[in-house]
Amino acid sequence: MRVLSGIKPTGKLTLGNYIGALKNFSQYQSDHDVFIFIADLHALTLPIDPEELRMNTRLLTAFYLAAGLDPNRVTIFKQSDVSAHAELNAILQNYLYMGELSRMTQFKEKSQNMDGNAIGLGLFTYPVLMASDILLYEANIVPVGEDQIQHIEITRDLVVRFNNRYGKILVMPEPIVSTVGKRIMSLSDPSIKMSKSESGKGDIYLTDDLTVIRKKIMSAVTDSGSEIYVDEEKKPGITNLLTIYAALTDKSLDDCVKKFKDYRYGDFKKEVANVVINTLGPFQEKAYEFLKSGEVDRVLRDGAQKATIIANQTLKKVKEAVGLL
Ligand code: TYM
Repeated sequence: MRVLSGIKPTGKLTLGNYIGALKNFSQYQSDHDVFIFIADLHALTLPIDPEELRMNTRLLTAFYLAAGLDPNRVTIFKQSDVSAHAELNAILQNYLYMGELSRMTQFKEKSQNMDGNAIGLGLFTYPVLMASDILLYEANIVPVGEDQIQHIEITRDLVVRFNNRYGKILVMPEPIVSTVGKRIMSLSDPSIKMSKSESGKGDIYLTDDLTVIRKKIMSAVTDSGSEIYVDEEKKPGITNLLTIYAALTDKSLDDCVKKFKDYRYGDFKKEVANVVINTLGPFQEKAYEFLKSGEVDRVLRDGAQKATIIANQTLKKVKEAVGLL
Protein backbone atom coordinates (compact mmCIF):
# COMPACT_ATOMS: atom_id res chain seq x y z
CA MET A 1 0.00 0.00 0.00
CA ARG A 2 1.26 3.46 -0.93
CA VAL A 3 0.84 6.49 1.29
CA LEU A 4 1.43 10.03 0.08
CA SER A 5 1.07 13.43 1.66
CA GLY A 6 2.58 16.89 1.45
CA ILE A 7 2.70 20.25 3.15
CA LYS A 8 3.10 23.69 1.58
CA PRO A 9 6.22 25.57 2.72
CA THR A 10 4.39 28.85 3.19
CA GLY A 11 4.12 31.03 6.29
CA LYS A 12 4.85 29.46 9.64
CA LEU A 13 3.68 25.92 10.29
CA THR A 14 1.18 25.64 13.14
CA LEU A 15 0.21 23.16 15.80
CA GLY A 16 -2.78 22.46 13.50
CA ASN A 17 -0.41 21.27 10.76
CA TYR A 18 1.44 19.18 13.35
CA ILE A 19 -1.64 17.48 14.79
CA GLY A 20 -3.66 17.22 11.57
CA ALA A 21 -0.81 16.00 9.37
CA LEU A 22 2.87 15.98 10.38
CA LYS A 23 2.63 13.80 13.48
CA ASN A 24 0.58 11.15 11.65
CA PHE A 25 2.96 10.37 8.82
CA SER A 26 5.57 8.23 10.58
CA GLN A 27 3.03 5.60 11.73
CA TYR A 28 2.89 4.22 8.18
CA GLN A 29 6.60 3.84 7.55
CA SER A 30 7.03 0.32 8.95
CA ASP A 31 4.44 -1.36 6.74
CA HIS A 32 3.62 1.02 3.87
CA ASP A 33 5.52 2.53 0.98
CA VAL A 34 5.50 6.18 2.04
CA PHE A 35 6.11 9.35 -0.02
CA ILE A 36 6.11 12.66 1.83
CA PHE A 37 6.92 15.84 -0.03
CA ILE A 38 7.29 19.58 0.16
CA ALA A 39 4.64 21.25 -2.02
CA ASP A 40 6.86 24.10 -3.16
CA LEU A 41 5.12 24.60 -6.52
CA HIS A 42 1.88 25.03 -4.59
CA ALA A 43 3.63 27.62 -2.43
CA LEU A 44 3.86 29.88 -5.50
CA THR A 45 0.07 30.12 -5.81
CA LEU A 46 0.14 33.13 -3.46
CA PRO A 47 2.93 35.74 -3.43
CA ILE A 48 5.99 34.54 -1.49
CA ASP A 49 9.48 35.96 -1.04
CA PRO A 50 12.07 33.67 -2.75
CA GLU A 51 14.36 33.62 0.27
CA GLU A 52 11.45 32.75 2.55
CA LEU A 53 10.47 29.89 0.23
CA ARG A 54 14.04 28.52 0.29
CA MET A 55 14.24 28.73 4.07
CA ASN A 56 10.78 27.27 4.64
CA THR A 57 11.60 24.34 2.37
CA ARG A 58 14.66 23.38 4.39
CA LEU A 59 12.88 23.93 7.69
CA LEU A 60 9.94 21.76 6.61
CA THR A 61 12.33 18.98 5.63
CA ALA A 62 13.89 19.24 9.09
CA PHE A 63 10.39 19.07 10.60
CA TYR A 64 9.67 15.89 8.67
CA LEU A 65 12.82 14.32 10.08
CA ALA A 66 12.12 15.62 13.60
CA ALA A 67 8.61 14.12 13.38
CA GLY A 68 10.29 10.72 13.08
CA LEU A 69 10.26 10.11 9.35
CA ASP A 70 13.16 7.82 8.53
CA PRO A 71 14.66 8.72 5.12
CA ASN A 72 15.80 5.12 4.71
CA ARG A 73 12.21 3.96 4.75
CA VAL A 74 10.30 7.03 3.48
CA THR A 75 10.89 8.98 0.30
CA ILE A 76 11.08 12.65 1.31
CA PHE A 77 11.33 15.03 -1.62
CA LYS A 78 10.60 18.44 -3.05
CA GLN A 79 7.76 18.63 -5.59
CA SER A 80 9.66 20.93 -7.98
CA ASP A 81 12.60 18.47 -8.11
CA VAL A 82 10.39 15.92 -9.87
CA SER A 83 9.35 17.43 -13.20
CA ALA A 84 6.68 14.77 -13.72
CA HIS A 85 4.41 16.77 -11.37
CA ALA A 86 4.35 19.70 -13.79
CA GLU A 87 3.99 17.41 -16.81
CA LEU A 88 1.09 15.42 -15.40
CA ASN A 89 -0.50 18.70 -14.31
CA ALA A 90 -0.37 19.89 -17.92
CA ILE A 91 -2.19 16.75 -19.06
CA LEU A 92 -4.75 16.47 -16.26
CA GLN A 93 -5.86 20.09 -16.44
CA ASN A 94 -7.94 19.02 -19.41
CA TYR A 95 -9.99 16.62 -17.31
CA LEU A 96 -11.16 18.95 -14.55
CA TYR A 97 -13.68 21.67 -15.27
CA MET A 98 -13.84 25.36 -14.42
CA GLY A 99 -17.23 24.90 -12.77
CA GLU A 100 -15.98 22.34 -10.29
CA LEU A 101 -12.73 24.19 -9.58
CA SER A 102 -14.61 27.40 -8.80
CA ARG A 103 -16.62 25.55 -6.14
CA MET A 104 -13.53 24.61 -4.12
CA THR A 105 -13.76 26.08 -0.60
CA GLN A 106 -10.03 26.80 -0.38
CA PHE A 107 -10.14 28.75 -3.66
CA LYS A 108 -13.18 30.73 -2.53
CA GLU A 109 -11.58 31.54 0.85
CA LYS A 110 -8.20 32.55 -0.53
CA SER A 111 -9.54 34.60 -3.41
CA GLN A 112 -12.44 36.32 -1.68
CA ASN A 113 -10.54 39.51 -0.87
CA MET A 114 -8.57 39.62 -4.11
CA ASP A 115 -9.25 41.73 -7.17
CA GLY A 116 -11.14 39.36 -9.47
CA ASN A 117 -8.98 40.38 -12.43
CA ALA A 118 -5.76 39.56 -10.63
CA ILE A 119 -6.27 36.07 -9.25
CA GLY A 120 -3.38 33.87 -10.35
CA LEU A 121 -4.33 30.89 -12.51
CA GLY A 122 -2.28 28.64 -10.24
CA LEU A 123 -4.57 29.40 -7.31
CA PHE A 124 -7.56 28.41 -9.41
CA THR A 125 -6.02 25.22 -10.80
CA TYR A 126 -4.46 24.26 -7.44
CA PRO A 127 -6.47 20.99 -7.22
CA VAL A 128 -5.16 19.79 -10.61
CA LEU A 129 -1.56 19.93 -9.38
CA MET A 130 -2.62 18.29 -6.14
CA ALA A 131 -4.34 15.50 -8.07
CA SER A 132 -1.12 15.08 -10.07
CA ASP A 133 0.89 14.77 -6.83
CA ILE A 134 -1.36 12.01 -5.57
CA LEU A 135 -1.86 10.09 -8.81
CA LEU A 136 1.79 10.03 -9.89
CA TYR A 137 2.65 7.81 -6.91
CA GLU A 138 -0.47 5.66 -7.26
CA ALA A 139 -1.22 6.49 -3.64
CA ASN A 140 -3.92 4.43 -1.94
CA ILE A 141 -3.96 6.48 1.25
CA VAL A 142 -3.60 10.26 1.66
CA PRO A 143 -3.43 11.36 5.33
CA VAL A 144 -4.54 15.00 5.64
CA GLY A 145 -6.46 17.42 7.84
CA GLU A 146 -10.13 18.00 7.17
CA ASP A 147 -9.65 21.08 4.97
CA GLN A 148 -7.93 19.01 2.24
CA ILE A 149 -10.65 16.37 1.87
CA GLN A 150 -12.47 18.32 -0.84
CA HIS A 151 -9.30 18.33 -2.95
CA ILE A 152 -9.01 14.57 -2.63
CA GLU A 153 -12.67 14.15 -3.52
CA ILE A 154 -12.12 16.05 -6.76
CA THR A 155 -9.08 13.86 -7.44
CA ARG A 156 -11.36 10.85 -7.05
CA ASP A 157 -13.83 12.34 -9.54
CA LEU A 158 -10.98 12.86 -11.96
CA VAL A 159 -9.88 9.21 -11.61
CA VAL A 160 -13.38 8.00 -12.50
CA ARG A 161 -13.60 10.38 -15.47
CA PHE A 162 -10.13 9.53 -16.79
CA ASN A 163 -10.42 5.76 -16.30
CA ASN A 164 -13.87 5.64 -17.91
CA ARG A 165 -12.34 7.11 -21.01
CA TYR A 166 -8.95 5.36 -21.16
CA GLY A 167 -9.26 2.18 -19.08
CA LYS A 168 -7.91 1.40 -15.63
CA ILE A 169 -4.89 3.71 -15.65
CA LEU A 170 -5.11 5.84 -12.49
CA VAL A 171 -5.28 4.45 -8.94
CA MET A 172 -8.14 5.60 -6.69
CA PRO A 173 -6.86 7.40 -3.56
CA GLU A 174 -8.60 7.50 -0.19
CA PRO A 175 -8.29 10.43 2.24
CA ILE A 176 -7.57 9.55 5.86
CA VAL A 177 -8.20 12.08 8.62
CA SER A 178 -7.47 11.41 12.26
CA THR A 179 -10.52 11.00 14.48
CA VAL A 180 -9.16 13.49 17.00
CA GLY A 181 -7.52 16.66 15.66
CA LYS A 182 -8.61 16.81 12.03
CA ARG A 183 -9.40 20.51 12.50
CA ILE A 184 -7.56 22.44 15.22
CA MET A 185 -9.09 25.85 15.82
CA SER A 186 -7.58 29.24 16.63
CA LEU A 187 -7.03 29.79 20.36
CA SER A 188 -8.27 33.37 20.15
CA ASP A 189 -11.30 32.58 17.99
CA PRO A 190 -12.34 28.93 18.08
CA SER A 191 -14.82 29.49 15.27
CA ILE A 192 -11.97 29.70 12.73
CA LYS A 193 -9.25 27.19 11.85
CA MET A 194 -5.74 27.60 13.26
CA SER A 195 -3.84 28.74 10.21
CA LYS A 196 -0.41 29.71 8.90
CA SER A 197 -1.80 32.91 7.46
CA GLU A 198 -3.67 34.29 10.48
CA SER A 199 -2.63 37.10 12.80
CA GLY A 200 -0.66 35.01 15.24
CA LYS A 201 -2.05 35.40 18.71
CA GLY A 202 -4.43 32.49 18.41
CA ASP A 203 -2.04 30.32 16.40
CA ILE A 204 0.75 28.25 17.90
CA TYR A 205 3.64 28.18 15.48
CA LEU A 206 6.05 25.26 15.53
CA THR A 207 8.92 27.75 15.76
CA ASP A 208 7.42 29.74 18.68
CA ASP A 209 9.49 30.07 21.86
CA LEU A 210 8.19 27.76 24.55
CA THR A 211 7.39 30.74 26.80
CA VAL A 212 5.30 32.26 24.01
CA ILE A 213 3.47 28.97 23.55
CA ARG A 214 2.61 28.83 27.25
CA LYS A 215 1.32 32.41 27.14
CA LYS A 216 -0.81 31.75 24.08
CA ILE A 217 -2.43 28.72 25.70
CA MET A 218 -2.96 30.43 29.06
CA SER A 219 -4.75 33.29 27.30
CA ALA A 220 -6.82 31.05 24.99
CA VAL A 221 -10.45 32.11 25.02
CA THR A 222 -12.59 29.77 27.07
CA ASP A 223 -16.33 29.60 27.20
CA SER A 224 -18.91 30.72 29.70
CA GLY A 225 -19.51 28.36 32.60
CA SER A 226 -16.82 26.43 34.38
CA GLU A 227 -17.30 22.85 33.29
CA ILE A 228 -14.95 20.96 31.06
CA TYR A 229 -16.64 18.80 28.43
CA VAL A 230 -16.87 18.37 24.67
CA ASP A 231 -19.47 20.47 22.87
CA GLU A 232 -18.43 22.20 19.67
CA GLU A 233 -21.39 24.57 19.77
CA LYS A 234 -21.54 25.58 23.41
CA LYS A 235 -17.91 24.99 24.38
CA PRO A 236 -15.78 25.56 21.25
CA GLY A 237 -12.73 26.87 23.14
CA ILE A 238 -12.67 24.11 25.75
CA THR A 239 -13.39 21.47 23.10
CA ASN A 240 -10.44 22.71 21.07
CA LEU A 241 -8.09 22.55 24.07
CA LEU A 242 -9.36 19.06 24.95
CA THR A 243 -8.76 18.00 21.35
CA ILE A 244 -5.19 19.32 21.42
CA TYR A 245 -4.52 17.50 24.69
CA ALA A 246 -6.10 14.25 23.46
CA ALA A 247 -4.26 14.30 20.13
CA LEU A 248 -0.86 14.91 21.70
CA THR A 249 -1.27 12.27 24.41
CA ASP A 250 -2.93 9.72 22.10
CA LYS A 251 -5.88 9.50 24.48
CA SER A 252 -9.56 9.47 23.59
CA LEU A 253 -11.59 12.64 24.15
CA ASP A 254 -13.74 10.71 26.64
CA ASP A 255 -10.72 9.81 28.77
CA CYS A 256 -9.56 13.43 28.74
CA VAL A 257 -12.99 14.70 29.79
CA LYS A 258 -12.92 12.23 32.71
CA LYS A 259 -9.44 13.32 33.73
CA PHE A 260 -10.28 17.04 33.77
CA LYS A 261 -13.82 16.76 35.15
CA ASP A 262 -13.03 18.54 38.42
CA TYR A 263 -10.38 20.95 37.10
CA ARG A 264 -10.74 24.71 36.96
CA TYR A 265 -10.13 26.31 33.56
CA GLY A 266 -6.77 27.77 34.66
CA ASP A 267 -5.36 24.47 35.92
CA PHE A 268 -6.66 22.66 32.86
CA LYS A 269 -4.90 25.15 30.55
CA LYS A 270 -1.66 24.64 32.49
CA GLU A 271 -1.84 20.90 31.76
CA VAL A 272 -2.55 21.54 28.08
CA ALA A 273 0.39 23.96 27.91
CA ASN A 274 2.67 21.37 29.55
CA VAL A 275 1.77 18.71 27.01
CA VAL A 276 2.27 21.06 24.05
CA ILE A 277 5.61 22.26 25.40
CA ASN A 278 6.79 18.74 26.21
CA THR A 279 5.99 17.77 22.62
CA LEU A 280 7.26 20.82 20.76
CA GLY A 281 10.36 21.45 22.90
CA PRO A 282 12.18 18.23 21.91
CA PHE A 283 10.69 18.46 18.40
CA GLN A 284 12.22 21.92 17.86
CA GLU A 285 15.60 20.79 19.21
CA LYS A 286 15.69 17.84 16.83
CA ALA A 287 14.60 19.96 13.87
CA TYR A 288 17.30 22.59 14.47
CA GLU A 289 19.92 19.82 14.79
CA PHE A 290 18.88 18.37 11.43
CA LEU A 291 19.03 21.81 9.84
CA LYS A 292 22.61 22.31 11.02
CA SER A 293 23.82 18.81 10.14
CA GLY A 294 23.52 18.98 6.35
CA GLU A 295 21.16 15.99 6.52
CA VAL A 296 18.35 18.07 4.99
CA ASP A 297 20.12 18.60 1.67
CA ARG A 298 21.19 14.96 1.47
CA VAL A 299 17.64 13.73 2.13
CA LEU A 300 16.15 15.97 -0.56
CA ARG A 301 18.76 14.91 -3.11
CA ASP A 302 18.20 11.19 -2.54
CA GLY A 303 14.43 11.63 -2.28
CA ALA A 304 14.22 13.39 -5.64
CA GLN A 305 16.00 10.49 -7.34
CA LYS A 306 13.76 7.83 -5.83
CA ALA A 307 10.55 9.81 -6.42
CA THR A 308 11.46 10.53 -10.04
CA ILE A 309 11.69 6.83 -10.89
CA ILE A 310 8.19 6.05 -9.59
CA ALA A 311 6.62 9.27 -10.93
CA ASN A 312 7.99 8.72 -14.43
CA GLN A 313 6.47 5.23 -14.60
CA THR A 314 2.98 6.65 -14.05
CA LEU A 315 3.60 9.59 -16.35
CA LYS A 316 4.56 7.15 -19.11
CA LYS A 317 1.35 5.14 -18.60
CA VAL A 318 -0.73 8.30 -18.82
CA LYS A 319 1.10 9.58 -21.89
CA GLU A 320 0.53 6.26 -23.63
CA ALA A 321 -3.14 6.22 -22.65
CA VAL A 322 -3.93 9.67 -24.04
CA GLY A 323 -1.88 9.20 -27.20
CA LEU A 324 1.22 11.27 -26.47
CA LEU A 325 3.41 8.18 -26.83
P1 TYM B 1 -1.20 22.79 4.00
O1 TYM B 1 0.24 23.09 3.84
O2 TYM B 1 -2.17 23.93 4.01
O3 TYM B 1 -1.45 21.97 5.32
C1 TYM B 1 -0.71 20.80 5.58
C2 TYM B 1 -1.57 19.79 6.32
O4 TYM B 1 -2.01 20.33 7.56
C3 TYM B 1 -3.42 20.15 7.68
N1 TYM B 1 -3.95 21.27 8.48
C4 TYM B 1 -4.66 21.12 9.61
N2 TYM B 1 -5.07 20.02 10.28
C5 TYM B 1 -5.78 20.20 11.42
N3 TYM B 1 -6.09 21.45 11.91
C6 TYM B 1 -5.72 22.58 11.27
N4 TYM B 1 -6.01 23.77 11.77
C7 TYM B 1 -4.96 22.43 10.06
N5 TYM B 1 -4.42 23.32 9.19
C8 TYM B 1 -3.82 22.58 8.23
C9 TYM B 1 -3.93 20.18 6.24
O5 TYM B 1 -5.19 19.58 6.12
C10 TYM B 1 -2.83 19.42 5.53
O6 TYM B 1 -3.04 18.02 5.63
N6 TYM B 1 -2.76 21.27 -0.44
C11 TYM B 1 -1.98 20.83 0.71
C12 TYM B 1 -0.60 20.35 0.33
C13 TYM B 1 -0.61 19.33 -0.74
C14 TYM B 1 -1.01 17.96 -0.59
C15 TYM B 1 -0.83 17.37 -1.88
C16 TYM B 1 -1.47 17.20 0.48
C17 TYM B 1 -0.25 19.52 -2.03
N7 TYM B 1 -0.36 18.34 -2.73
C18 TYM B 1 -1.13 16.02 -2.11
C19 TYM B 1 -1.78 15.85 0.26
C20 TYM B 1 -1.61 15.27 -1.03
C21 TYM B 1 -1.84 22.01 1.63
O7 TYM B 1 -1.81 23.14 1.23
O8 TYM B 1 -1.66 21.71 2.92
